[in-house]
Amino acid sequence: MMLEINDLEVHYGAVRAVRGVSLVAAAGRVALVLGANGAGKSSTLRTAAGFLHGESGSIVVDGEEMRGKRAHAMVRRGVVLVPEGRKIFAPLTVEENLRLGGYRASRRDVSRAIGEVYEQFPILGERRKGMAGLLSGGEQQMLAFGRALMSKPRVMLMDEPSMGLAPSIVQTVMDGARSIADSGVAVLMVEQNAEAALRIADDVSVMTRGSITWTGVAAEASLHAVHAVLGDTALE
Ligand SMILES: Nc1ncnc2c1ncn2[C@@H]1O[C@H](COP(=O)(O)OP(=O)(O)O)[C@@H](O)[C@H]1O
Ligand SMILES: [Mg+2]
Repeated sequence: MMLEINDLEVHYGAVRAVRGVSLVAAAGRVALVLGANGAGKSSTLRTAAGFLHGESGSIVVDGEEMRGKRAHAMVRRGVVLVPEGRKIFAPLTVEENLRLGGYRASRRDVSRAIGEVYEQFPILGERRKGMAGLLSGGEQQMLAFGRALMSKPRVMLMDEPSMGLAPSIVQTVMDGARSIADSGVAVLMVEQNAEAALRIADDVSVMTRGSITWTGVAAEASLHAVHAVLGDTALE
């Protein structure tokens, strides 16, 4: 299973937010895109997830051109976005949030999928009757992962999962992302937190003002090199 983004352009009026970006996400791997605020990371993911259509370029899922298809069509093809800021439903319980992620499936399939999410993230099972808004930030991010997993994705697009989390929790969330990839999902993650994300990533690209300016394997992406490209904001 493979997601390929080729030469993607996304504009907002005169603002060229994404300029000729090409990225690949493959099953079992974490492809990481590091970039400062405003680099165009969310615009790239939102286009790959069908929430934006982009100006040109291609979004290919298993060999099929999908750019311009709507988000529900992307979900059906196995591509799901875990949005920036998590966007969980605070007044609903953990389990109700998970059910929302599985709304297309039969009741029995939903129950089975919920059980699988609790196996992968036991803390969600322990909190299943609790209000999602009362979870810690890290638990809310796990819930956002879990809700996305309910649609049995083959590609997960993760928009800054560490944003706003206490440093002590960030690695746990990154480990969660790693375990999702290890279960066979293709993960495309965008982050500003280079240090934590590099520990679990396989492939790394650096995005600067709408363009990919560096690509390599995580083991070779020394923090020093990333810092030089991203500037100080990347390592804060
Ligand atoms: N809805 C929008 N309308 C106009 N400009 C936008 C909109 N969303 C993002 N932008 C601009 O596009 C650029 C990239 O934004 P974004 O993709 O959100 O970057 P990132 O996720 O890396 O912080 C920024 O200059 C931002 O101001
Ligand atoms: Mg963003």
